Amino acid sequence: MNFYDSEKMSDLLMNHGYATTDTQEDADLIIVNTCHIREKASEKLFSDLGRIKKIKDKKRLTVAVTGCVAQAEGEQISARAPFVDLITGPQSYHRLPEMLRKIANGKSISPLLEFMPNEKFDNLEYGKNKKGPTSFVSIQEGCDKFCTFCVVPYTRGAEFSRSISEIIDEVNNLTDHGVIEVTLLGQNVNSWHGVDYKGKERGLAYLINEISNIKKIKRIRYTTSHPLDMDEELILAHKNLKKLMPYLHLPVQSGSDKILNAMNRKHTAKDYIKIIDKIRKINPEIALSGDFIVGFPGETDKDFNDTIRLIKEVQYAQSYSFKYSERPGTPASVLDFQVPENEKRIRLEKLQEILFEQQEKYNSSFLGKEVEVLIEKTGGRDDQIMGRSQYMQSVYMNKNLGKIGEIKKVKISYAGKNSLKV
Ligand code: 5AD
Ligand code: SF4
Repeated sequence: MNFYDSEKMSDLLMNHGYATTDTQEDADLIIVNTCHIREKASEKLFSDLGRIKKIKDKKRLTVAVTGCVAQAEGEQISARAPFVDLITGPQSYHRLPEMLRKIANGKSISPLLEFMPNEKFDNLEYGKNKKGPTSFVSIQEGCDKFCTFCVVPYTRGAEFSRSISEIIDEVNNLTDHGVIEVTLLGQNVNSWHGVDYKGKERGLAYLINEISNIKKIKRIRYTTSHPLDMDEELILAHKNLKKLMPYLHLPVQSGSDKILNAMNRKHTAKDYIKIIDKIRKINPEIALSGDFIVGFPGETDKDFNDTIRLIKEVQYAQSYSFKYSERPGTPASVLDFQVPENEKRIRLEKLQEILFEQQEKYNSSFLGKEVEVLIEKTGGRDDQIMGRSQYMQSVYMNKNLGKIGEIKKVKISYAGKNSLKV
């Protein structure tokens, strides 16, 4: 989501005479777009700002801090880093050009922290500066689920779904600029809902079908989903809609019912497994991915082992796993029985050993087989290009095998934990 927001900010500013540079020292404006989801992400802001201050000491430079740390800690940023000229939360950054004009005229601006997603999306630019064949499209923002560990409902605000026509317009604009794969984004993407042309209330499966009807679009993905919003229609779409890629990121966080309850996830481990079974029955080749948190307050060895058991049952193709990070203002941050840091580290290592083993095993099952790769960009080496398989794996190959923007069927000769090679 932050990647999408950064892209949109630079698109907006390009229309106001700005151009991007890869060198901070060359910049007239530096925007630090921040994430507040875990402690490490927000710590990074202040070390980045320390470096930026040194540049600002030597030349005329405007500094903006945007994103969820700005939203949650706007006042503290102003106090700790008074050289920051502008602070904007994630639901009001469309006002950047106007604010930068005011700053250029010597005005000082107080933090922009209003939630106005509707106005924001109406004022963004779509597709014009797009490079490459893949793109994110934000279709939903915010969250009403209030998992007890998570800052998103506070920093991004309440659930908001963009309208079907607005999303279709954005996708059409993107195809005019060479995009053939879209990843639909939302903090709770499968809670997306909208009203169709006949006034009927619709869910994500309908939207994916509408996007499937756009000829130039060849691939569709969506992320991130919540198990409670995984409805029958969406599960069926994984069989019926050929452009919907066989990959699903469905976080579970924990395999212990006691912890799931304390997290306010509103489902049990069994409910999750039932959804996974249904999806695999509908489409046996689907690649599954998940998010996991270890060391949530009160997590015992038994709870942790329940998570391990769930992981062994599901068999993931990919995963994201984290140590629980205490977030100010969330209900979990004031719970008793916080797990010691060292114990969290040990549990994360154990968990990742199993998850990475599964990932490697999954990738190895492709040795000698063909996958379809959408070539996205040049690879790490001069003679290489890279892209993604249907199942989201990074695939590297010699540049003679295809051009950026093409979908090629290739045979896999090497499989590692993080990538495949032709
Ligand atoms: N501590 C650790 N991980 C967290 N996540 C969200 N909040 C926290 C937290 N406080 C993880 C969840 C979520 C992913 C985006 O980040 O696993 O699915
Ligand atoms: Fe955060 Fe996701 Fe829970 Fe919403 S559903 S509160 S975004 S973890």
